This record gives sequence, structure tokens and C-alpha cells, in this order.
Amino acid sequence: MYTFRDYYNNEVKLSFQTEPFSKQPKHVWIICRYQEHWLLTLHKERGLEFPGGKVEPGETAKEAAIREVHEETGGIIDDIIYIGQYHVSGKGGDVIKNVYFAKIKQLENQKTYYETNGPVLLKDLPKNIQKNKEYSFIMKDDVLAHCMKQIQTII
Ligand code: GTP
Repeated sequence: MYTFRDYYNNEVKLSFQTEPFSKQPKHVWIICRYQEHWLLTLHKERGLEFPGGKVEPGETAKEAAIREVHEETGGIIDDIIYIGQYHVSGKGGDVIKNVYFAKIKQLENQKTYYETNGPVLLKDLPKNIQKNKEYSFIMKDDVLAHCMKQIQTII
């Protein structure tokens, strides 16, 4: 278990155990890989980030992950695996988010990408994302670095 502070100084706990904070998390975040690139989305307010969002009533977290990737990038998932779960103690309450790693087989053009401007493919993530104004706050804490390290062991 890792404990650290996020961009807004909220406490974050991250674990690579199986759903340690909640069996029914309300949020998902998906680190996506497509043709040797990282697949991100450009959120209209937050900036560049891996796709994700809220689990809707009647959905499993994995189903939400598959839907969010499609809505925000047009990506069709070939393979998706659970990586870990994190807990943010925010001012407005707690957020528990499952992190997945997904391999994308196809990118479909969409009429809308909802609250984002759609897919962005990057060969590499830049160094110093923390100081990069183009990137969303959710990419700016240790969740990303720890999860990328975890993923490197399986790709
Ligand atoms: P709506 O409920 O749709 O209006 O969105 P919201 O952004 O107000 O709510 P959400 O439940 O998504 O997030 C509430 C707060 O939790 C955010 O303002 C953040 O402070 C925090 N939060 C949500 N997701 C993350 C995340 O991935 N990382 C970090 N560090 N904090 C997060």
C-alpha cells in the first residue's frame, strides 16, 4: 500500500491488492495502449488524461471501464485487466477508483466524445507531467507512476 498526497493535497492510498477499499467502487480509470502508443483523451476542462469516469447503476466497474474508454476515445477493447485500486480522501468526500490496463484493438470515429475532445495518441508520456499545464490533475500524483511501473511488468 502506498500513501501520498495528490495535486490538491488530498490524501491518496493506492494498493495493487484485489479491490481493498471497496468491492463496488464508483469510479474507474483505464490506462490504454493502442498500436505501441498510449491512448489518452483530452478532457475539456481538466486536460490530457487516461480515460475514466463513474460507474453507472447496474454496471460492474469493468463494464464501466469498457464504456468509458469507448465514449471518451472511440476505443474498442481487446483485453482489459485489473491493476489496482485507490482511495482519495477529498474535501467533498471519498472517491474509490479501480485502475485497469486495456489493450485497444480499434479506434472508432465518434460523433461525440462527451466531456472530452476525444483520443490523443502518444508514443511516450512526457517527463514532468506535474508541471505540464496540458495535463489533468489526475495524471499528477504518484498513482500514475506506480501503475505504470506495475504495467511494465506485464507488457
Ligand atoms: P461530478 O460529481 O460529476 O460533478 O464530478 P466531480 O468532479 O465533482 O466529482 P468526482 O466524484 O469525480 O470527484 C470529486 C473529487 O474527488 C474531485 O474534485 C477530486 O478532488 C477527487 N478525485 C476524483 N477523481 C480523482 C482522481 O482520479 N485522483 C485524485 N487525486 N483525486 C480525484
